[in-house]
Amino acid sequence: MEIIKRKTLKEKPAKGTSLGFGHYFTDYMFTMKYTAGQGWHDAKIEPNEPKPFDLATSIFHYAQGIFEGMKAFLQPDGSIAVFRPEENWARMNRSATRMCIPNFPEELAEEGLETLLKLEKDWIPTDPGTALYIRPTIVATRVMLGVHASTEYLFFIILSPVGSYYAHGLEPTKLIVEDYYTRATLGGTGEAKCLGNYAASMKAGEVAEEKGFDQVLWLDAAEKKYVEEVGSMNMFFVIDGEVVTPALVGSILPGITRKSSIQVLRDKGYRVTERRVSIDEVIEAEKNGTLNEAFGTGTAAVISPVGLIRYKDVDYTINGGKMGDITRMLYDTITGIQYGKLSDPYGWRKIVK
Ligand code: COI
Repeated sequence: MEIIKRKTLKEKPAKGTSLGFGHYFTDYMFTMKYTAGQGWHDAKIEPNEPKPFDLATSIFHYAQGIFEGMKAFLQPDGSIAVFRPEENWARMNRSATRMCIPNFPEELAEEGLETLLKLEKDWIPTDPGTALYIRPTIVATRVMLGVHASTEYLFFIILSPVGSYYAHGLEPTKLIVEDYYTRATLGGTGEAKCLGNYAASMKAGEVAEEKGFDQVLWLDAAEKKYVEEVGSMNMFFVIDGEVVTPALVGSILPGITRKSSIQVLRDKGYRVTERRVSIDEVIEAEKNGTLNEAFGTGTAAVISPVGLIRYKDVDYTINGGKMGDITRMLYDTITGIQYGKLSDPYGWRKIVK
């Protein structure tokens, strides 16, 4: 694969820097283009520098674009592991299909990612809880204003050394149930990782933050009755010993950390049920003392305990506002596999060769 080198490299954040999420970017990126009639072409590694775009480029107008989130971890033996990238490539192509974007060759994307990671190995942070976040994205690049699928696209992968997604790290998050705004509807784009889903969630997110909450807990659009997800995380509740997570009904992102968590929990002997779970059931369980734990799962958020949920102006504290035992076990298991501290019985670590 062609690698276009840059003249000078950027300064890397020093060890111990509080990285936050998505503030630093590495020296290089992977790019490839799509042109109708030609397919995907021009795959290369190039300097991660600003690119000029005509302001009539369709992505700016109609948000025909998708993205993914993955992480790379430095292993104790010095190798680089990516967590389940094949799952992300497959989901990205499913998102592409939903958004009328031509599917891309997954093995070429993987080759591009691995070439990029080898070049950027020194950017992988090593402080506890940090990782190199991987952001593959496809945007429509045809210059035109008609509302039609573009005939040209840019696929790129940029890398960002990150710390924890929430400013307060592993402290349990506070969620507010949103019963007015809607994130996604059945038949909409909720299960695709498309740009517009995130733009649509920002208004409620802003209101939540003003009130001192970390995130919004979304309900289904039709009845405002069933829990869906958090936008940056899938949700799990432990009710009377049973682990319950909303079923993937079509408006919920099929999370890869969600899928991995279900597998780990089942293998450890927990009863995990994917079903519709109403907000009333969650609140009732909190009231009668059977809501043992709540947590979210996501690439950026990892396994994130939820300590408080506000619904209809009433605050419900979960597990005394502390991280529960099942949440802790899951966090330790998933991160243990990711950082190479535990064995990998599932083959989830993809070692970059
Ligand atoms: C991720 O977890 O990778 C996400 O894409 C969620 C959010 C940062 C947008």
